[in-house]
Amino acid sequence: MQTTTGTAPAPAPGKQSTPAYELTGVSKVYGSGSAAVAALSDIDLRVEPREVLAIVGASGSGKTTLLQLLGALDRPSAGTVRCDGRDIQSMGEGELSRLRRDTIGFVFQQFNLIPTLTARQNVELVAASTGVPAAARVARAAELLGSVGLSERAGHLPSQLSGGEQQRVAIARALMNRPRVILADEPTGNLDSATGADVLALLQHVAADNGQTLVLITHEQAVTEAAPRVVTLRDGRLISDTRS
Ligand SMILES: Nc1ncnc2c1ncn2[C@@H]1O[C@H](COP(=O)(O)OP(=O)(O)OP(=O)(O)O)[C@@H](O)[C@H]1O
Ligand SMILES: [Mg+2]
Repeated sequence: MQTTTGTAPAPAPGKQSTPAYELTGVSKVYGSGSAAVAALSDIDLRVEPREVLAIVGASGSGKTTLLQLLGALDRPSAGTVRCDGRDIQSMGEGELSRLRRDTIGFVFQQFNLIPTLTARQNVELVAASTGVPAAARVARAAELLGSVGLSERAGHLPSQLSGGEQQRVAIARALMNRPRVILADEPTGNLDSATGADVLALLQHVAADNGQTLVLITHEQAVTEAAPRVVTLRDGRLISDTRS
């Protein structure tokens, strides 16, 4: 399967480069008073460009909360989250949404495709507000669907695709705007194990080919064992950070 999508590689990881992410003393509290939930407490985390990082931990340990902060979908209650050297706290809503659109590709457990749009339209849509001409968007969407092995399915609606195919459309969509980072929250959670393994391999291939940072939440033991770096959360705290 060809997975190259023509994005220039990011600089190699190293101490000199600006980290993809730098979190310092990050906490997240949902609610207030007696209903307050400390979802994350005092997290320090540095992620280099092109790193592949798996986040693991029991249900409720704060994995999705952490990914939402990395995705600039939410702001921390305390501490700083720097994405590519920029503090997300200092950014307005417009800037945050441009950051999400241009820098970050999201892949979710539930695929989150728009049911009334075809695979190609789902991929194309995320570039609608970028100023890329329509013809170039159509061509890139077709190329990306080809790179995830779905050329023949480009005109199909999500309901006409298998779960694995839907997740491959979601991966093509995540790549559309040439993000520097791919964030995936349990991308295989709704797939059987063989299909899930294919999807994970695809994610890792595209991230490597495009020089992207890949952060993924997973329960798959095989991924955790193979991941070059694994961060473990327990009760909102980062309890281990291991590199193989
Ligand atoms: N919007 C919210 N409002 C209040 N509490 C929340 C909210 N979102 C998450 N929480 C709480 O924060 C904690 C961490 O939740 P989070 O979704 O990050 O866990 P998770 O590790 O992703 O779990 P899972 O593996 O089940 O997806 C949990 O106790 C959860 O109940
Ligand atoms: Mg979660």
